[in-house]
Amino acid sequence: MTASPAVEAPLVLSGSVAYEDALGRLRAASRAYYAGENSPLDDASYDALRLAVLAWEAEHPGEAAASPTGLVADGAAPEGDVAHTTRLLSLDNVFGPEQLLAWDASLRRRLGRDVEGGFTVEPKLDGAAVAARYRDGRLTQVVTRGDGTHGEDVSHVVGSVVGLPERLAEPVTFEVRGEVLFTREQFETAQEVRAAHGGAPFANPRNAVAGTLRAKDRPYRLEMTFWAYGAAELDGGSFLPAGATHAEVLAAVSAAGVRTTADTPAGLHVVDTIAEAQERVDAIGALRAGLPFGIDGVVVKANSAAEQAEAGLGSRFPYWAIAYKLSAVERQTVLRDVVWEVGRTGVLAPTAVLDPVEIDGSTVSRATLHNPADIARRGLHLGDTVTVHKAGDIIPRVQAPVVELRPEGAEPVPLPAVCPNCGGGIDKSQERWRCAKGAGCALAPLIEYAAGRDVLDIDGLGRTYVKALIDSGLVTDVADLFTLTEEQLSAAAGSARRGAKLAEQFALARNRPLSRVFCALGIRGTGRRMSRRLADHFGTMEAIRAASAEDLLAVEGIGPEKAPVVVAELAALAPVVDKLIAAGVNMTEPERPGPSAGASADGAAADGSAPAEGPLAGMTVVVTGKMTGPLASYSRSRMSELIERAGGRAGSGVNSGTSCLVSAPGAGGKPSSKAVAAERLGVEVLAPEAFAELVADYLD
Ligand code: IVH
Repeated sequence: MTASPAVEAPLVLSGSVAYEDALGRLRAASRAYYAGENSPLDDASYDALRLAVLAWEAEHPGEAAASPTGLVADGAAPEGDVAHTTRLLSLDNVFGPEQLLAWDASLRRRLGRDVEGGFTVEPKLDGAAVAARYRDGRLTQVVTRGDGTHGEDVSHVVGSVVGLPERLAEPVTFEVRGEVLFTREQFETAQEVRAAHGGAPFANPRNAVAGTLRAKDRPYRLEMTFWAYGAAELDGGSFLPAGATHAEVLAAVSAAGVRTTADTPAGLHVVDTIAEAQERVDAIGALRAGLPFGIDGVVVKANSAAEQAEAGLGSRFPYWAIAYKLSAVERQTVLRDVVWEVGRTGVLAPTAVLDPVEIDGSTVSRATLHNPADIARRGLHLGDTVTVHKAGDIIPRVQAPVVELRPEGAEPVPLPAVCPNCGGGIDKSQERWRCAKGAGCALAPLIEYAAGRDVLDIDGLGRTYVKALIDSGLVTDVADLFTLTEEQLSAAAGSARRGAKLAEQFALARNRPLSRVFCALGIRGTGRRMSRRLADHFGTMEAIRAASAEDLLAVEGIGPEKAPVVVAELAALAPVVDKLIAAGVNMTEPERPGPSAGASADGAAADGSAPAEGPLAGMTVVVTGKMTGPLASYSRSRMSELIERAGGRAGSGVNSGTSCLVSAPGAGGKPSSKAVAAERLGVEVLAPEAFAELVADYLD
């Protein structure tokens, strides 16, 4: 019902041999993790093994004396020689709502009453803990957590961590504690810089941080990011307001110029009850996929300093804080093969074939690899253990190999020498390789796409029909569709009635707006949205054809790489476009905004903001699940178009800025995570039928 359960079926250790073996594996994983090497266990496997060890130790208390599970970082963090001002502790974990309630009950037992000062809820940032010392407003030292009492001096990172300024506006003295991490963007850059220096790729952003903190003499610097989640007095100073709550401490840190968890897009929330804390946990969990950095949970803390002091500290973690772990979105598995398919624009798309692995509730056995250059940059070999990342609805993608686990003799992923579809040559001039025949190579997928609801909307032109038309030689490009006679259509369909119906459909398709006709051409990088922008900007096919690469740069989303590709591919398609014109296909964008009107044909303002008019003006609408009633035939992109036409914005995830969620009520099944988040955040949920009524004037 709530933010994703974090563990799979519990592991049970069969005896002391299995226990010792599990300890060895935990130690090896922790050592690698803290040394900045790629860990042989992913988070989910590590957590499951650790829980099994703890369960075994609870049942065999006499035999657990040497276990590292009672120590900060499981005793594996490199120690370092800089003494911490006060111990840097870890956090205990819970994995679901019942366990959060149990933690609250244990906190109440310790206090002898209910928590009165409320709770804070903030993201659990997935990086590495550091203490950063400011003296007289200057960042003088950065120290890793180490074993909690002593850490390593990593001050070499000063100057390369966003959020940890070298100088503050005021000459204050204090220590901030928080997490250093790579945002997704910083991580991609780090991988590129590292590859350029001949370094092995990092398996994931967290390993990259641990490694970067420890590497003092790299010839290159990698930018990272810091957010504080706590602070302490330094050198006997008095920076922190006396008796300040956790939220007030972070506000003081932020006011001094150091970023805190409250400054992250997930924010810091103060609530009164544990039930409200659970709601906030779910809300942050729902934001996770859209955050620009990784989180592996949500931290709930007692807000009051007095109650924190009363609750006290254990050897590893404080009793007044708890990490609510979210399900792992990253797992390790083995890359078995890479298959190549040719898409509608002729681009060769590689897909990784993986040993099936459970990620966030679904089994993943295939994942996206972007292009040959990307495969090479990541240094992927067949047989590699790889990290696979899946967030929310996003298609899983292979992140990086765990180089330490590479089998001997493994070969780099082979790249195709000829087009995997037609066996012809490959155009390798761009990062995304393409069959030399372009869209002409994968004619069937192109025609199927062009006939689709969101493009030319030719009802009845399904896969079998498309194949029959191509096999008969009648269709060699998209323009041929419009030259077919009713007799030819009837012959291909094997039925005069169907032939006549299709002829009617083609007559309607001739009048589709330019944006859809352009999209049907199959030019690289011009899907529905980009085609709409091009049509809005230029208004006619003639104007687009006359545009230079430089002219195209004025269109949002077209950069110096894409512009010449669009120009060249459109020029190469001149015979097809001419044939379309000759067949009477519409080449203009109707209701296009005038240069000063600001609003586009589909209702969206030129700057991308929603127009002020329409029943959804100023609203952000999220859609989930299957549509029903009048919207039953609406695809996701058609729904987005509808929302924009009616004056709103189409959102992808439910958050506090969402105005309403369109969702069919579940027939007793599990509600979607978006529906759960909407309920918790008080976001209105509308059934598709009710939503259709609201936007009735805007339905197709
Ligand atoms: S509070 C005394 N808050 O998670 C309380 N920790 O798995 C100490 N972490 O060692 C920690 N985000 O490195 C706290 N918002 C957050 C955090 C956070 C990430 C890390 C921290 C801690 C580890 C425990």
